[in-house]
Amino acid sequence: MALAFCSSLRFSTSTPSPPSPSLPLRTSPTSSSLITVRSPQRMGARSLRARPPLRPKATVAVDSPAAGPDASRSGPPRVLLEVKDLMAVIVESGQEILRGVNLTIYEGEVHAIMGKNGSGKSTFSKVLVGHPDYEVTGGSVIFKGENLLDMEPEDRSHAGLFMSFQTPVEIPGVSNFDFLNMAYNARRKKEGLPELPPLEFYSYLSPKAAAVNMDLRFLDRNVNEGFSGGERKRNEILQLAILEADLAILDEIDSGLDVDALQDVAKAVNGLLTPYNSVLMITHYQRLLDIINPSHVHIMEEGSIVKTGDLSLAKQLEKEGYRAFSVS
Ligand SMILES: Nc1ncnc2c1ncn2[C@@H]1O[C@H](COP(=O)(O)OP(=O)(O)OP(=O)(O)O)[C@@H](O)[C@H]1O
Ligand SMILES: [Mg+2]
Repeated sequence: MALAFCSSLRFSTSTPSPPSPSLPLRTSPTSSSLITVRSPQRMGARSLRARPPLRPKATVAVDSPAAGPDASRSGPPRVLLEVKDLMAVIVESGQEILRGVNLTIYEGEVHAIMGKNGSGKSTFSKVLVGHPDYEVTGGSVIFKGENLLDMEPEDRSHAGLFMSFQTPVEIPGVSNFDFLNMAYNARRKKEGLPELPPLEFYSYLSPKAAAVNMDLRFLDRNVNEGFSGGERKRNEILQLAILEADLAILDEIDSGLDVDALQDVAKAVNGLLTPYNSVLMITHYQRLLDIINPSHVHIMEEGSIVKTGDLSLAKQLEKEGYRAFSVS
């Protein structure tokens, strides 16, 4: 899932059991996610039971964490991400997956990576966010001028990197509202801003939920528990909207969506774009590109980017029946 690399807590994406009382958890090397979440027990009665009803009477002005757009900035677009000759292996087997990836993303750009099944797209994005299944064996990654590979996963999130995983996970026992509130507060804390109590957070959250067409009833449900594929993806975009990341990596945000849901999610992503943030999306489908309109399209094969162009590259390859466009 995407559950954002957001807070300073962690959970395992692959284990749909409630977080243990001895959290914060360190994810096992084999788990597929890196988020961190306090256990419901540790969050305590105040957080879980005494939360105000989700209908506030007052609107509260809220400062966003500093990673959001800064209207006072000027000058040419800055480089957000610079990946050079990145190589990575699977920790468990030593199998090489990334074989020299090169990619530069400036702020304000939308990049799409396409490529057939197993070409390394998800691995690349997981390596960027610091997934423990992979070990970097060569190359460099600079994010906003800092060495990303030296940073812990949660620090990468705090620095403004967000990832929506291909398969969003459930977090039983943790309500969506509490999860989002914790993730947001972890980010604020890092920025030296005071934490937002639930009522104020609700005022910040509700317009964002409306923007992604998310029914407020989903806030009271456990994270992704029983959510349909489309609802999970929408929830991912809500997390992104709340965290206001500088670079959002969206791994197959379109998978499992019907045409209407795809339109909603894609439009929600478009609504989050500013001249200062960027999106790196992974997809097999032209239909997503038609709505989000990436400025750059890359084709990945066998762990490296073998072709780069604009939207016309995707269209041309689709015409030629390139396998990136079919999910086998
Ligand atoms: N943790 C892992 N353990 C074992 N094999 C892995 C692991 N992660 C990736 N792989 C293998 O690495 C290769 C690349 O996988 P990856 O998920 O990056 O492909 P992908 O391009 O995202 O494919 P798809 O389009 O199907 O999502 C595949 O052969 C996959 O089985
Ligand atoms: Mg994948």
